[in-house]
Amino acid sequence: MRLKGKHIILGVTGGIAAYKAAILIRLLVKEGAEVKVIMTPLAKEFITPLTLATLSKNPILIDFFNPENGDWNSHVDLGLWADLYLIAPASANTMAKMANGVADNLLLTTYLSAKCPVMVAPAMDLDMYNHPATQRNIKVLQSVGNIVIEAATGELASGLTGKGRMEEPENILTSVVDFFLNENRFSNIKVLVTSGPTFEPIDPVRFIGNHSSGKMGSSLAESLARQGVKVVFITGPAKVIPNHPNVEVISVKTAEEMYNAALSNFPSVDGAIMAAAVADYTPTIVSNSKIKREGEELTIKLKPTKDIAASLGKTKREDQFLVGFALETDNEFENAYKKLKSKNLDFIVLNSLKDSGAGFSCDTNKVTVIDKENKRLSIDLKSKTEVANEIVDFIAEKFDWLRGEGKSSL
Ligand code: CTP
Repeated sequence: MRLKGKHIILGVTGGIAAYKAAILIRLLVKEGAEVKVIMTPLAKEFITPLTLATLSKNPILIDFFNPENGDWNSHVDLGLWADLYLIAPASANTMAKMANGVADNLLLTTYLSAKCPVMVAPAMDLDMYNHPATQRNIKVLQSVGNIVIEAATGELASGLTGKGRMEEPENILTSVVDFFLNENRFSNIKVLVTSGPTFEPIDPVRFIGNHSSGKMGSSLAESLARQGVKVVFITGPAKVIPNHPNVEVISVKTAEEMYNAALSNFPSVDGAIMAAAVADYTPTIVSNSKIKREGEELTIKLKPTKDIAASLGKTKREDQFLVGFALETDNEFENAYKKLKSKNLDFIVLNSLKDSGAGFSCDTNKVTVIDKENKRLSIDLKSKTEVANEIVDFIAEKFDWLRGEGKSSL
């Protein structure tokens, strides 16, 4: 009963593989899960709702409301009820709609309002699967954090042989069980993440800021939160903020406010990831009234801000980890490693500035993670969600206590 008490919505789309949904439901129910099934209107041409209702022990949901009594099938309530939304089989058509936010059936509206993680098991003919449009849609779904269970290779309904078969129900069950194990693997861990830019006021209407969007910090927080970590997320005025019940958001504006929030929270966390682009300098004097346009030149005197990462590095305990980011234009690796040493970090994530699609404001990133022994992990250009997952895995591997065993293995 490895899924006891888990609430799973199974979304079934129209395709030959829909018959495998029956086996999948039986396996999920046998493991103790409560399963509610949503079918697309076309899916019921492939397998009867009666079969799936009998196996899941719940009425099947297809329409927005019950035509007999007008009862509303609330996609919002369904999305809140579920611990996991598994869409299997997922047709090319449904994935395309999911990737573009189309909401023309109950399965899709539930997808758009679901707060829980989403797993997708594609099933289609090999040419449809290989088509650049489908591959692009799969990438889009992954980039927003959905877990895609790759299609298997074998005989297809069309008589052709190739990649496109829905993964066997037994293997989908294994992915679901692994997912729940992973979800809770770090539930006793708390991590602080700084993110976004800081705004340093010049006068009541002007500030010195930077282009940091907060996407990388937000992806890291979500990746941690999805694995059960409690996250204290200290963010400057960023465009992107994580949305997960495990994330507590503390909003700040200036480097000084971020410093105070980080220092007061650091003693109670197991580690910190400093993804914020903190201003290095702040105006010495902040004018109380708007500075008027006068004279030929205006000089604003700046003073250095406090280095948050370095301050945490000084107070860091044996059982805490500290991760910094580095943006370098010259001697990238040498400078990043120097930064790791001088701030007493355990890891530093070096942003690649030379590659298009990496860095500030992009949805993708390409980084190298460097550890204390100068060992490196290169992460190729990928969505920030995928980069965040790899960074978290890399850190977790190095720290026993991230697995809840209490001591650093470094
Ligand atoms: N950092 C910080 N507080 C600051 C400045 C930087 O916590 N006041 C953190 C950043 O969040 C990042 C790391 O330090 O994790 C490195 O930031 P970066 O701007 O690359 O380095 P600096 O130390 O400011 O050095 P420089 O700008 O001279 O390269």
